[in-house]
Amino acid sequence: MSDGTWWKHGTVYHVYVRSFYDSNGDGVGDIPGMLEKMDYFSWLGVDAILLSPVNTSPMHDFGYDICDYRGIDPVFGTFEDFARLIDEAHARNIRIIMDVALNHTSYLHPWFIESSSSRDNPKRDWYIWRDPVKGGVPNNWRSAFLGSAWEWHQPTEQYYLHTFLKEQPDVNWRNPDLAEAMLNELRFWLDRGVDGFRLDVANYFVKDKLFRNNPFSFNPISNQVEKYNKNRPETHAVMRNLRQLVDSYDSRMLVGEVFSYPPGDSELSASYLGTGNDELHLAFDFSLLYRKWNARKFYKCIKNWYAVLPDGGWPCNVLSNHDQPRSFNRYKDDQDSEKRARVAAMLLLTLWGTPFVYYGEEIGMKNFRISRSELTDPAGKKFWPLYAGRDCARTPMQWSPDDNAGFTSGKMWLPVSMDYKQVNVETMKDDPHSLLHFYKKLIEIRKHKKAMTHGKWKARSKGHHGVISYMRKYEDETLYVVLNFTDQRKRVNDGKQGQWKVLLSTHRSSFEHFAELSFELYPYEATMIEKIGELK
Ligand code: GLC
Repeated sequence: MSDGTWWKHGTVYHVYVRSFYDSNGDGVGDIPGMLEKMDYFSWLGVDAILLSPVNTSPMHDFGYDICDYRGIDPVFGTFEDFARLIDEAHARNIRIIMDVALNHTSYLHPWFIESSSSRDNPKRDWYIWRDPVKGGVPNNWRSAFLGSAWEWHQPTEQYYLHTFLKEQPDVNWRNPDLAEAMLNELRFWLDRGVDGFRLDVANYFVKDKLFRNNPFSFNPISNQVEKYNKNRPETHAVMRNLRQLVDSYDSRMLVGEVFSYPPGDSELSASYLGTGNDELHLAFDFSLLYRKWNARKFYKCIKNWYAVLPDGGWPCNVLSNHDQPRSFNRYKDDQDSEKRARVAAMLLLTLWGTPFVYYGEEIGMKNFRISRSELTDPAGKKFWPLYAGRDCARTPMQWSPDDNAGFTSGKMWLPVSMDYKQVNVETMKDDPHSLLHFYKKLIEIRKHKKAMTHGKWKARSKGHHGVISYMRKYEDETLYVVLNFTDQRKRVNDGKQGQWKVLLSTHRSSFEHFAELSFELYPYEATMIEKIGELK
C-alpha cells in the first residue's frame, strides 16, 4: 500500500451493494455477498471497489439518507463484515472506496432529531432552518425530487431545507461544529483502513448565505438555474478541508460527484480539483456519460475535459452508474448493442484517466423496464410516467442461468432482467470471446501497459466520419487505439510507419501485423495496436 497514486492507474469497479450478491436469502445484496465474490473481483482484475452507501439508513433513498455514519446497516451486514471486506480486499491488493452522503443526513439522524427539537438547541444551526417569507416558503429553491426544497416543521415553526427528499435534510456546512463533526465521521473510517470516499453531490454542500431566489430557466423539471443552492464559491474551502484530512493519511483518495446539469460545463466540474493537488483527487463530470452515440461528440467531450484540467489534475471516466440508464442499450437498443458496448469498453479503458466500471457493464447488462407496481426508486415513483426513475440500472447482478440469475435464493428486491439465461457471468466466463473476457483483457492491458495509465493521449482521428483514434505513449511504449462508431466500413490513413502488432481487437487476431497504420476498419471495430519496432 505504499504507492500513493493507486487511484491513477487502477480500474475501479462500482458495486451497487443491494443488487450485487445476496448471501442470506433476504433478496437484498450484502457485504458477506461481496466477500463471497472476492475471487470474481480478482479474476476480473479490478484495483478498487466503490460501494454504494452501506451506512445505517431508513432507506428512503436507498442509503443516501444516513442516520449513523459509523454504523453498517443490518440489511448489508455488520461492522465486522465490513472490516473483513477491507482486510480481504487489501490482501488482494484491492482498495475500498465508500460512498458518503455529506450534503444531507437522514431525518432520523440524532443530529437532526436534536436540531429539530427546539429553536435554541445547540445543534439547531447544524441544519438549514428559515422563517417563512410572506407566509410561505423562504425562497423558490426546488427539490431534485420534485416540489419545493423547503419543508414546514410545525413544532418549531420554521422551514428546513432538503435538496432531495424531505427525509434528507441538508446540513449546514457553514457551521464549524457540523463541519468538524462530519470530518470526524470520515476520520473514523480512515482509521479503519478505508482507501477513499465518493462524495455524494459535493457541489451542493454550501448554499447562498442570503438565500436568494434561483433565476428562471426553461429546465422542464425545476424551471430554474441552480445558481444559489449549488456550486457556491465557498464550497471549495470545504473541499480543501476534506482534502487536508485525507492527505494526513497515506494513499487515500476523494472522488466527488460534481457534474452540472445540463452537462457540458466541464470547467466547473474541473474547478473542484482545485490547483490539481488541493481539492478532489477525481471529479465525476459525467459529460461522457450523457453523450449520444456520436464519435464527433464523444471526441469533443473528451478533448474538452482534458483541456480544462488544472496542472496536476487527473481525469476519470464513467459510462454508467446507479443514477442513469445503463450504457449497453442507452445509445440504441438493437442487434448492434453489444458491438457498441465493445467500442465503448475499449474507449473507457484506454482513455487517459481512471475508469469506473459499473457492475454488470462487463457482461452487457441492459436497462430493464420495471412495471409501475414494482418501482422502488423514490424519483421514479414521483416522476412517473414522465420518468420511470433509476431502478432500470439497479437490477440484480446476473451471475448464472439459475433461478434469480444466481443472485439470491429469496425473493429479489427488484426483478432481474429477462435475458439472464444468456447474459450472466457463469456462461460468459466459459466463452473466451464474450464481452466479459473483452473487459477482462482490457483491464489487464491497462494494468500492465504504462502507456495506458501514464502515457500522453494524442488524438489522431477526431470523430469525423464516425472514427476516433489516438496514441498513448510512455517512454518506449506506443499504443494506438482505433474505434469505429458506425455500422459502415471505414478507412484510417494514419500513415504512421513502423512495426505494429494487434494487441486486442474485436475483429483481428493478435497475429496481425502492420507496417503502416492505414487500413480498412470493419463496422464497429475496436482495435488496439502496439508498436513493436521501427521499419527495417
Ligand atoms: C446522488 C446519488 C443519488 C442520490 C442523490 C441524493 O446524486 O448518486 O443516488 O439519490 O445523490 O443523495
